[in-house]
Amino acid sequence: MNRRRFFQGFSASAAGALAAAAFQTDALARAQSAASAVPGRAADTVARDEDFWMNIRHAFTVDRNMVNLNNGGVSPAPKIVMDTEVRYLEVENLSPSYYMWSVLDPGIETVRRRLARTFGCDPEEIAITRNASEGLEIVQLGMELQRGDEVLTTNQDYPRMITTWQQRERRDGIVLKQLKFPVPPPSMESLVKMFEDAITPRTKVIHICHMTNRTGQIFPVRRICELGRAHGIEVIVDGAHAFAQFPFQQADLECDYYGTSLHKWVLAPIGTGMLYVKRSKIEKIWPLMAAPPEMNANIRKFEEIGTHPASQRNAITEALNFHESIGAERKAERFRYLRKRWSNQLRDLAGVKILNSEDPEQSCAIGFVSVDGYDAGKLQDYLWTKHRIWTVAIVTGNEYQGLRITPNVYTTLEEIDTFAEVMAKVIRSGSIPA
Ligand SMILES: Cc1ncc(COP(=O)(O)O)c(C=O)c1O
Repeated sequence: MNRRRFFQGFSASAAGALAAAAFQTDALARAQSAASAVPGRAADTVARDEDFWMNIRHAFTVDRNMVNLNNGGVSPAPKIVMDTEVRYLEVENLSPSYYMWSVLDPGIETVRRRLARTFGCDPEEIAITRNASEGLEIVQLGMELQRGDEVLTTNQDYPRMITTWQQRERRDGIVLKQLKFPVPPPSMESLVKMFEDAITPRTKVIHICHMTNRTGQIFPVRRICELGRAHGIEVIVDGAHAFAQFPFQQADLECDYYGTSLHKWVLAPIGTGMLYVKRSKIEKIWPLMAAPPEMNANIRKFEEIGTHPASQRNAITEALNFHESIGAERKAERFRYLRKRWSNQLRDLAGVKILNSEDPEQSCAIGFVSVDGYDAGKLQDYLWTKHRIWTVAIVTGNEYQGLRITPNVYTTLEEIDTFAEVMAKVIRSGSIPA
């Protein structure tokens, strides 16, 4: 068959699929060329440039017949990251004991170096984990604490991290104190004061979210780390939502311990995370799974978890390339723009409370809407079953309840507006339709 006949026989849809595939494989180049088309333009201007974001959008293969506004739970990886992961998966399965251990595993040092550059630290301070929980639990469970020692955190910290401290209460007799704060808080300084006022001579640890997974409140991490240092208290920072959602580096925080997921805002393969431990602190943290004494001061002792796939973690580098091609500042500004776009359509309606802060220092992608008299769980169900809009209902004790809304770099304005329009209609009608 000659070339012409071949293409004549080719169906339009197959050609379309091929073109789309080529388009997606080209994702990194598209992200890079989108970025190179806007040099020198302020990030908040690029945030509104739909031509720029169209290129980013095409790097993903997400289901467009649902509106995914729960990217905070876990995010899809761009096609190029998935392809990289699959390629490594195929390589490691050629003969795992050779290809995984000898060929792919050394690549973890490149991943470590790239993560360290993004976070602004020494690669010898970065451990690659399977998620934020693993990184944080290494520190929570690996820190020497005595019976009666106190740990301060909030009741809006991540449930699994609270469960971890509660297990130490049962096992080791430590005391966990969970502080409460209003959302949004009156100021960032009020959050510092809340911890300062709760410190006692028994306080040994402060555990905070850089950004909460509820209303997306950003904490004054640097101020709280300074407070901790002044009192000889260790500060553990849960950065699951902050890393790569908005720009910052270790020097901005001056923290000693920072655990994060990479499958949220870095858009890395599902099942990847990172733990930063300041070099001088590595030696005194016990690893979650045992390591030999020669590794005591080696950050790699936290990676002694037995056989695990190289394919996921080796593809992290490609996700970092993608993240950097967009630009951290542009991403953050886009997120703030999307959040304001839906919340501005709802905030003046009867009963609506927007519970995330409006201060750019204290908020980014995560938005939170509560409607008086509307049960958050039922609202979430209604949006999904009637409109295929995927959100998450969050209830914080008797304090507040509502929907957490998290778009991503691939989210379209049409999707944001669809959510806002459906919500506005439901709110105006006075109840959730049956
Ligand atoms: C604030 C916070 N910390 C920790 C975690 C745990 O992250 P992972 O599922 O990556 O372990 C999450 C997950 O949503 C989170 O939101």
